[in-house]
Amino acid sequence: MKRQLEICEVGPRDGLQSAAKILSVEERIGFISRLFASGLTKIEVGSLVNPKLVPTMADSDKVFAGISELHPANKANFSLLVPNQRGLDTAKEIGCASVAFFSATSETFNKKNINRGVAESIAELGPLIARARDRQMRVRLYVSTVFDCAYQGTMQPATDLVPFLPLFSQVDEVSLGDTTGRATVAQMREILDSEILSPLKEKIWWHFHDTFQLAGENTRFAMEQGFNRFDSSAGGIGGCPFSPGAKGNIATEKVIAIAEDMGLTHAIRMPLASAL
Ligand code: HMG
Ligand code: MG
Repeated sequence: MKRQLEICEVGPRDGLQSAAKILSVEERIGFISRLFASGLTKIEVGSLVNPKLVPTMADSDKVFAGISELHPANKANFSLLVPNQRGLDTAKEIGCASVAFFSATSETFNKKNINRGVAESIAELGPLIARARDRQMRVRLYVSTVFDCAYQGTMQPATDLVPFLPLFSQVDEVSLGDTTGRATVAQMREILDSEILSPLKEKIWWHFHDTFQLAGENTRFAMEQGFNRFDSSAGGIGGCPFSPGAKGNIATEKVIAIAEDMGLTHAIRMPLASAL
């Protein structure tokens, strides 16, 4: 049987969150709707974070409501990034059934991004994940700075990820973030050789930023190792406001080209919409 590529399109969230231009709710809904028309069904449509810190993502509840009204049958596949209980409650109120929590292996990045250290964040996430599951939500957990951190430099993935393993067993999806775009195949090999992810292989999504044009090589390596699931953004837009220098996610177009070359199937039609 042919392997199927799975994409989580993060352009409307990761792509737009650090954009210089703030798009209106209508513009964001239009962008997501055009991506959906290309066959991208799993889409992170925004984030329920403090709008003073990330103004580009303000009114993501309205974006979710608007896109869900346009494509009701796909509502469960439109997800939102959620930092805390308040975000989870908003997600519940607006009928969002797919939430993504986030933390990082770097103490410094975590403090700048979510005002929490690693241990404090892990302690908070356990009950939050449990509550989301009680509400029958699909739960994703992002871990950022897995390979490298803008503040702490090179990270040690095979050891840094260990405290997160109990959380990984509770969620549906684990997205491993190369926030700065400096991940190497050697580091990926180190994680895989450690076998910490072996029982979780079907849950793993790779989230590469393409700052130094390393993301293609890393994606190809992951596919060679049997992974089919990738986060990407149409046109390669993106970044992280709390990780200086971070550039766009790997372009969805690039992931698709590599997948086609590797013989994976997909149902996405080019060209993809651009938002900016
Ligand atoms: P905090 O300061 O600890 O929270 O922030 P707080 O409860 O003390 O509240 C402070 C203020 O935030 C209050 O407003 C709250 O109302 C507001 P004020 O009284 O000052 O006007 N607030 C909220 N507003 C809306 N929705 C909420 C919410 N919660 C509090 N849910 C918090 C903690 C995490 C909320 C804050 O630090 C924050 O919003 N950070 C933004 C984080 C962010 O969006 N980062 C970018 C996404 S992560 C990423 O890009 C990486 C990823 O792509 C993977 C990778 O590439 O590695 C996922
Ligand atoms: Mg990202």
